[in-house]
Amino acid sequence: MCGIIGFTGTRPAKDIIISGLERLEYRGYDSAGMALLADGNITVKKRTGKVEELKKLCATDEYMATCGIGHTRWATHGGVTDVNAHPHRCGQVVLIHNGIIENYRQLVVEYGLSGKIISETDSEVVAALLDTFYEGDPVAAIKKTVKALSGAFALCIMFQDIPGKIFAIRNVSPMVATSCDEGSIIASDLTALVEFSKDYFVVPEYHILTLSEEGIDVRTLKGEKVEPQMLTVNWDIKSAQKGGYPFFMLKEIYEQPDSIRNTVTPRVANGLPDFTTDGIDDSVFEGCKRVVVVACGTAMHAGMVGKHVIEDVLRIPVQVEIASEFRYKDPIIDSEALTIVLSQSGETIDTLEALKLAKSRGSKVISIVNVKGSTIARESDYVLYTHAGPEIAVASTKAYTVQVSAMYLIACKMGLVKGIIDEDYAKKFMAKLLNAPNIIEETLDNANNIKRIANHIKLSQDAFYIGRGLDYTMSLEAALKLKEISYIHAEAYAAGELKHGTIALIAENVPVIALATQEDVYEKVISNIREVKARGAYVVLVSMDEKVDDPAICDKHIRIPKLDKEFTAFATAVILQLIAYYTSEAKGLDVDKPRNLAKSVTVE
Ligand code: AGP
Repeated sequence: MCGIIGFTGTRPAKDIIISGLERLEYRGYDSAGMALLADGNITVKKRTGKVEELKKLCATDEYMATCGIGHTRWATHGGVTDVNAHPHRCGQVVLIHNGIIENYRQLVVEYGLSGKIISETDSEVVAALLDTFYEGDPVAAIKKTVKALSGAFALCIMFQDIPGKIFAIRNVSPMVATSCDEGSIIASDLTALVEFSKDYFVVPEYHILTLSEEGIDVRTLKGEKVEPQMLTVNWDIKSAQKGGYPFFMLKEIYEQPDSIRNTVTPRVANGLPDFTTDGIDDSVFEGCKRVVVVACGTAMHAGMVGKHVIEDVLRIPVQVEIASEFRYKDPIIDSEALTIVLSQSGETIDTLEALKLAKSRGSKVISIVNVKGSTIARESDYVLYTHAGPEIAVASTKAYTVQVSAMYLIACKMGLVKGIIDEDYAKKFMAKLLNAPNIIEETLDNANNIKRIANHIKLSQDAFYIGRGLDYTMSLEAALKLKEISYIHAEAYAAGELKHGTIALIAENVPVIALATQEDVYEKVISNIREVKARGAYVVLVSMDEKVDDPAICDKHIRIPKLDKEFTAFATAVILQLIAYYTSEAKGLDVDKPRNLAKSVTVE
């Protein structure tokens, strides 16, 4: 999704804007632009392509402007063209926008803006409306404009005749801000802010910010001055840099042991799960008769792993819902259901709206979120923050395993509170969870063996992941990982389903990654594997067997340590992440920034 950065202060703004846009590239985009305000004039430079292209466009310009805004655009309304790139200028106004204005077409008609519009975007309509309302008072014009808008927006605005000032306002779309000795900075997320200050605030919705060299003035639409709630970043700028790895994704795969330790260890007291510091009272679990998990993509897959533990161990029903489906149906949910929302970014619009729907039906909501102070965190009744640090690669890895860990913490706590498990069982369970980082480290030692598999898979058009029970759930995440960064059409199938159609797709050399870590169905999976092997598939078997060299079963065997069934997830997750990573790298693709994808889907 779009990236926004604004700076006004004592230093030249150009390089600050450019480096901020570079830090925001991971959000996914197709165009980049900036606007610099100096001496009563705003210069706008923008074009399709990477930030590198924008740098070239501005290379010869020696701007001394100390006030500017920058934008990376992920196209929603209108194609990928220079004209549709941001910033958009109209008369005295220049602005950048992240979000979707639902009623932009009506606004063009209602306010007769067509003569002012040259692009296909909803954002330019906002600039035209602002310019229409602007008669010298920026706050009045902004108030009138946002009253007319319907939809999500994070806006940074400059007025040509107001030197040194940036105005901002948001609804749903994220923005954070801070000020320091060098000036005032505002951005879509912390990765572009953290080099200036570790203290920041989340821009409150429908408040008008005025950024100047001296600081940031925050006011309600009624003009009341507000002191924003300051937060502190719990990671440093190095966390948002590659640190010698070729791609962020590989760095983040290797960060998983520490991410899990940082997420789990602070929530263990006397060997038992403890949510005291999270402010989650036992009563939250006492009354719940069932659990509804709502999320998107990988976060949803993490919730599905948690479902296995809650249902298998606690016998409490769990339904996992795709957020974009849940929010538009009439869900069967009430106060007897505990809703667990998972989101790395805490800004996924479908997950946010599903959360609001669940709350409106009386269900208590716990969110598992990786970004402090994010919208989903703020809208939830309770938040279980994961401490994975910033996840820059679009393909989620460490966020997934810490989300799984958080689900296991909740499952163990719920079982204890409801008297379904005793302390002895809980302590054994927690000891295994605390051992998860070691499982991952042991699996990472096998990375080279896994890398060789990628060389076989990279030439394929299709790939299949099969398994039963938890292994089927892991296959869903595996297929998504491979699809989203290698562009190979990967599918996950319950191994028992193969004969009901899919096996028709198995031909000579088609790669099938078979997960057989669940001992209770091991033989069943092996017989499914024999069926695909007999039809020429290239089979990679992942299991706890010491060694499997029977050519009738597999071409490659990846061994995982002997583990209790629920904890195999930590080993298979890493194997599946590495298969996807090495396949994408072997294909020479941009592993961190796959085509068409954004890190956080903040618009529908
Ligand atoms: C993960 O590899 C994907 N990039 C995507 O499915 C992601 O998990 C999904 O968009 C949810 O994002 P969130 O966790 O920030 O809500």
